[in-house]
Amino acid sequence: MSLNSVFEPLGINKITLPNRIVFPACQTNYATSDGFVTERLLRMYGKLAKGGSGLLIVGGVAVSDNGTPNTNALKINHDKYVSGLKELFSLIRENGAVPAVQLLHAGRQTLSVMTGHPLVAPSAIPCPVMKETPLELDRNGIKRIQDDFADAAGRAKKAGAGLIELHGAFGYLIGAFLSPYSNKRKDEYGADKALFFTEIIEKVKRKVGDTPISCRISADEFVDGGLILDETGKIAPRLVKAGADVISVGAGTYASMKHMAPTMDMGEGVHVHLAKAIRDSVDVPVICAGNIRSLEYANNVVSEKIADLVAICRPQLADPFFVKKSMNKEPFVECIDCGTCLFFLHGASAVSCPQNPEL
Ligand SMILES: Cc1cc2nc3c(=O)[nH]c(=O)nc-3n(C[C@H](O)[C@H](O)[C@H](O)COP(=O)(O)O)c2cc1C
Ligand code: SF4
Repeated sequence: MSLNSVFEPLGINKITLPNRIVFPACQTNYATSDGFVTERLLRMYGKLAKGGSGLLIVGGVAVSDNGTPNTNALKINHDKYVSGLKELFSLIRENGAVPAVQLLHAGRQTLSVMTGHPLVAPSAIPCPVMKETPLELDRNGIKRIQDDFADAAGRAKKAGAGLIELHGAFGYLIGAFLSPYSNKRKDEYGADKALFFTEIIEKVKRKVGDTPISCRISADEFVDGGLILDETGKIAPRLVKAGADVISVGAGTYASMKHMAPTMDMGEGVHVHLAKAIRDSVDVPVICAGNIRSLEYANNVVSEKIADLVAICRPQLADPFFVKKSMNKEPFVECIDCGTCLFFLHGASAVSCPQNPEL
């Protein structure tokens, strides 16, 4: 079967992705405890870049101290982080992929013992999984975090990121503002739940010019009272109007975790229908994700115009050369769907994978 569609380059603004395969943002907890790049991260992303994906999204990288998602997450809230990220992005570029960064504020989906600060969110409602009540952000707090995203984007560009992704999915801070499930505000940020995000996009755009911006959203949160496709199909065009050059479609929140990284019993390409619906509502490229386990399937997604780019995460954790080996019809080490890499679900300290002991 031909794989022409998935290996077709894609131009976005001034960058060209060599193919349609993305290694999406993946928290590893491999950074130092104060958020710097480590040898382990260089080793992991160096291999992934050689492995054949066109776009490697590093992250989520925390834009503010009070939005750090884990004990050893990458950070980008100070200029001191630029040189380490520059080394990482250069390595990715030298090995043939476009380096990107995902900027994240975890909002209420973290713990103050990890951030060292009180948690913040659109409303003082705890995440049902983390169970810690956050403070409701006031206007100054909102502006400060929006500026943190813009400053972080400026640093990422300086470090050589070819694309900047804003994490608006999975119930983290931006996603929490978007959702009627977690945003019960009485002010303009409650009346217009996309306002917090569109203002961030505008600020980031002013900072980074024509560096493409991807916005990741949960097209369906799969929680009672949460976002559904009817709403996200209207939000996506507003993100594009504000300056998004790509929409990346995921699903779920911590309260519906199985949709964030779906197990195989949920079906191959379990969320591609969501990506297709969002793609129909916008005129920019769309990334889909979730249980895409072969390049043949990925090729169909692109050729049938379900999505323009295909994120493949766990198969590349299990074998960083998954793309090249599949392309050459060589055997690769398969992801066995065991869930070990989801370290935050079972109290492990960082990502590990029984199929890839060298991670
Ligand atoms: C260990 C792990 C960490 C993840 N961390 C992030 C993250 O920081 N940001 C994000 O947007 N998605 C994150 N994801 C979700 C992936 O980007 C991807 O959407 C998901 O794993 C489904 O793709 P897959 O079936 O190819 O693994 C993570 C997934 C895994 C397995
Ligand atoms: S840890 Fe398990 S689920 Fe995660 S990539 Fe490895 S084999 Fe797949």
